[in-house]
Order: sequence, then structure tokens, then C-alpha cells
Amino acid sequence: MKGLILSGGRGTRLRPLTHTSAKQLVPIANKPILFYGIEALVQAGIKHIGIIVGDTKKEIMEAVGDGSQWGVRVTYIEQEAPLGLAHAVLTAEEFIGQEHFVMYLGDNLIINGVTEFVAEFEQNQSHSQILLAKVPEPEQFGVAQLKDGKVVRLVEKPKTHISDFALVGVYMFDRHIFEAARAISPSWRNELEITDAIQYLIDKGYEVRSHIIDGWWKDTGKLEDMLEANRIILDTMERRVAGSVDSDSRVEGRVVIEPGAEIVNSLIRGPAIIGPKTKIINSFIGPFTSINYEVVVKGSELEHSIILENSSLIDIGGKIVDSLVGKNVQIARSVLRPCAYRFMVGDNSRVGIL
Ligand code: TTP
Repeated sequence: MKGLILSGGRGTRLRPLTHTSAKQLVPIANKPILFYGIEALVQAGIKHIGIIVGDTKKEIMEAVGDGSQWGVRVTYIEQEAPLGLAHAVLTAEEFIGQEHFVMYLGDNLIINGVTEFVAEFEQNQSHSQILLAKVPEPEQFGVAQLKDGKVVRLVEKPKTHISDFALVGVYMFDRHIFEAARAISPSWRNELEITDAIQYLIDKGYEVRSHIIDGWWKDTGKLEDMLEANRIILDTMERRVAGSVDSDSRVEGRVVIEPGAEIVNSLIRGPAIIGPKTKIINSFIGPFTSINYEVVVKGSELEHSIILENSSLIDIGGKIVDSLVGKNVQIARSVLRPCAYRFMVGDNSRVGIL
């Protein structure tokens, strides 16, 4: 059985970060989201993974390499444009060959992995197996309508409520999915939808099994979802203090302080992670915060946020919460006159001021 991870796409919901970077590489607890997917497939016994890449191909390839860091073989497959999940499947036809495969959306996170579902699919020899989760706002997802426990209808982002069950971003297929993806037409958003392809399988009488998962799952395409994923993953981490903490500082609860990090006259309250060579000076870092490497936080308070590498937060008056700060960002109290806000903010940014 092969793995197929989709790591192309546009990432419009995560702009401005996705103007310059792949959303699948945004770190959750300082590890790229994509790596959680790779690990889930490796854990399920997959030995060869194809990764669909688009405009951010170079960055993804640099981060993942040949897969040897996980003991797995990785093949990159270029999709000429993000024309839909079923289009991505077709792009991978040669790579998949005659094998069964698990398709995993590169921005999804499933806390308990996929091992049992993959094993079950290998055993039951159905044509497809999909995973469903009960969600509060199913209209934002592909949804599945069930009858007597069987999936009868799938609709991508339905306009009206048809079911509480969203399709989780992990699907298992045999080669019939290629026939399905070839048979369907692009949707109103000009994408070949995977929901339409699976509907084709159902309509043709192929066996599509479904599983309702009760573990935690997140499609991290939006800021709020990233923060929630960060919260959940941080909550599973063990305390580990490798960096230096001076005698005027306190580190409370489950906190990871990576090697080379320096904590000076500050309070770190877990769960939180402070990346390598990051300096926290005269500051408060509150629960559910991930700060990546070589960041400087001085004279500031932050909580429930993700800060990417090489950024600095200096002498911020109010507390920073619920925030995602990109790479190489500088936010600092200005000493210039007139006393005023001064921004250089990228397209599609969101800034909340006091
Ligand atoms: P989506 O989040 O559905 O799409 P997107 O990445 O274009 O994001 P947005 O809606 O914010 O514009 O994609 C799910 C995953 O599949 C994600 O990792 C990107 C990937 N993908 C592809 O690889 N090829 C595609 O054609 C599409 C649509 C998505």
C-alpha cells in the first residue's frame, strides 16, 4: 500500500503567510503540520509516500528531503495547478500504479493517527474507505449523508444542512478512483472534487465503507484551527528544559525549552514550547504558546499564539493573544515622534489594536 500526501493548493485562507510559504509547513508545536501526516503514514506501515506539490515545491522538498529522516521513500509529484483533490489523484496515477493507497491532506492533523483504519482497509478489500467526524459547522466541509450506516450522498460545502458528518482529510482507495476522477466534471469552483469522485464510486455500486472517528481531527486551513491544533499538541508534550533559565525566571508546568534558548527574568507558564536559540527577556509567556527558533521576546506578554522563526516582539504594551506571527516579523514599541502606530503589513493581514 502506498501513501499520497497532498501538499499543493492555494492556501487562500491563511494569507498573508501563504503569499510566501507553504501552509503545510506552518509549525504546530514547532513542527511543520506536514510532518505529522508523514509520521501518521509511517506509523501505519507505509514505506513509499508520494507528495503532491505545487508552487511551493522547493520549500516542501527542502523540508522533507528524501524521507530518510523517517525511514520512508518519498517521491514528489508535480501538479500543474491546484485543480482539485480528484485532479491531484489523477496526477498521481503513474506513481500509484495498481496498488491501494491512503490519501492524506497535508494540512490535516489526526491526533490518534490512521494505523487502525489503514489495517482495516487492507483487510476488508473494499474499493474505498472514508473517515467521518461529527462537526459543529459541517457546511464548511465535504459532508456525507448516511442511510442505515452507509454513505449514500456526498456534497462539497453544501449550502443547506444535510448532515452533521464531515469528511476527514484521509481517504483510502483502490485503482477505481482513477476511473471515477476521469468520469467527473469540474465543479462551480472549477475543481475536480473528491466528493464527486467518491459519489461516482457509490453510484456505480463500488463498495465505499465509512468510519466515524471519535478522536480529535483538524483541518488546519484557517488561523483559529491552527491555534486549536497547537493547543491540543502542546497539551500532549512532556516537560523538557534544555536551554538556560536564570535565577530570576520561573518555568511552570509542561514547558519545552530547546537547547540554546535563554530565559531571563521571565515567567513561562505551560503548556508552551520555546525554540532553539530564542531569547525571552523580562516577559511572560502564557499557556498554549509555541515560539520557534531565534526569536526575541523582550518586555512583552503573550499567550495562545504561534510565533515563527527569526521574529522579534519588543516592549509591547498590551498582551498578545490568539495570534500567528510569521517569519522575520518585527513588532516593537516605537520611540519616534509623533507618538503613533507605524505599520508595514503585507496583503491580507489582520491586525487588532487597542
Ligand atoms: P484545501 O485546504 O481544500 O485547499 P487550498 O490549499 O487551496 O486552501 P484554501 O481553501 O485556503 O485556498 O486543500 C487541502 C489540502 O490539499 C492542502 O494540503 C492543499 C492540497 N491540495 C492539493 O495538493 N492540490 C489541489 O488541487 C488542492 C485543491 C489542494
